[in-house]
Amino acid sequence: MEFSDEFDFENRIVDAAELPEDAGDADNPLRPKNLDEYIGQEKVKENLRVFIEAAKLRNETLDHVLLYGPPGLGKTTLAGIIANELGVSVRITSGPAIEKPGDLAALLTNLNEGDVLFIDEIHRLSRAVEEILYPSMEDFAIDIITGKGQMAASYHLPLPKFTLVGATTRAGQLTAPLRDRFGVVLRLELYTPEELAQIVTRSAGILGIKIDYEGAIEIASRSRGTPRIANRLLKRVRDFAQVMSDGVITLETARTALDRLEIDELGLDGNDRRMLEAIIKFYNGGPVGLETLAAAIGEEAVTIEDVYEPYLLQIGFLSRTPRGRCITAEACRHLGYDFPSGAVNAAPTQTSLFKDDQKDNK
Ligand code: ADE
Repeated sequence: MEFSDEFDFENRIVDAAELPEDAGDADNPLRPKNLDEYIGQEKVKENLRVFIEAAKLRNETLDHVLLYGPPGLGKTTLAGIIANELGVSVRITSGPAIEKPGDLAALLTNLNEGDVLFIDEIHRLSRAVEEILYPSMEDFAIDIITGKGQMAASYHLPLPKFTLVGATTRAGQLTAPLRDRFGVVLRLELYTPEELAQIVTRSAGILGIKIDYEGAIEIASRSRGTPRIANRLLKRVRDFAQVMSDGVITLETARTALDRLEIDELGLDGNDRRMLEAIIKFYNGGPVGLETLAAAIGEEAVTIEDVYEPYLLQIGFLSRTPRGRCITAEACRHLGYDFPSGAVNAAPTQTSLFKDDQKDNK
């Protein structure tokens, strides 16, 4: 049985990864510019305020900062805010974009004193690049070797002092030497519906969209704890509100629009539901190995792991056991199925969506 025809893995509206329509560039008007404008992540903000203030008082560069957590929670935005609050510029790049040590050397030598260098997906840096990142972070200098054999020469190149802000969705994937070189390590959490409603209301104000509180909460609670998804849904719901009513987003227009987009009240879309149904119907609720599941639905195992699973694990719809993925009774209830007889009733790996109850699943 092949399910892949039914799946639309491209352009998922509830994908937390950045899509072209998110206008992910630094000029995105929805991006808050300073800590006061930034909603949520209270612990992270409080700590950052202190570290930034202290660095400014001492006239020093801010220690290197590692931000980690699921995609779409505002890591790039925070890097921009850190630079703004410090009164310096930010250079934005990513692990896969820095292919050779020379690429990193070029980036570093072009920074001005005190600047912020933001490296997204920092866990994807190559070993060779990582090796020259260490002395850059520690001593603000790099040693470059040119030529071979007798002609080899080594140059010691001093760099401007800078703050590296690294971002990763998986802190566990960083090498220990890299992780240890960050003085500040901050974990971003999923947002509560209340916080997301504030973000949606703020974004609506910037985009000139009329929305009431109930409409904002409805969008927020279907956004998987993720501002990037909330802002994307806001734009789509506006389309429905304009075409189907007077343009104002209310509970009713939000509900109608999100139902039409097939995003249910927990933020699951058709792909999530079909994947969960595949586990129930074809693997008797699991356990099913990741690779087997991936082959059955025609998707890469890493995509399932990085894109689909995190949220399903977080809301307690899937659990990971040593023998594979299992559906939970809660998921069956939500989808309207009986819990398969004989299925392993593994405790959900994580039962709560929010904050303090969260644990790392890795
Ligand atoms: N837009 C996206 N994320 C935001 C946040 N955390 N605060 C305010 N606006 C946002």
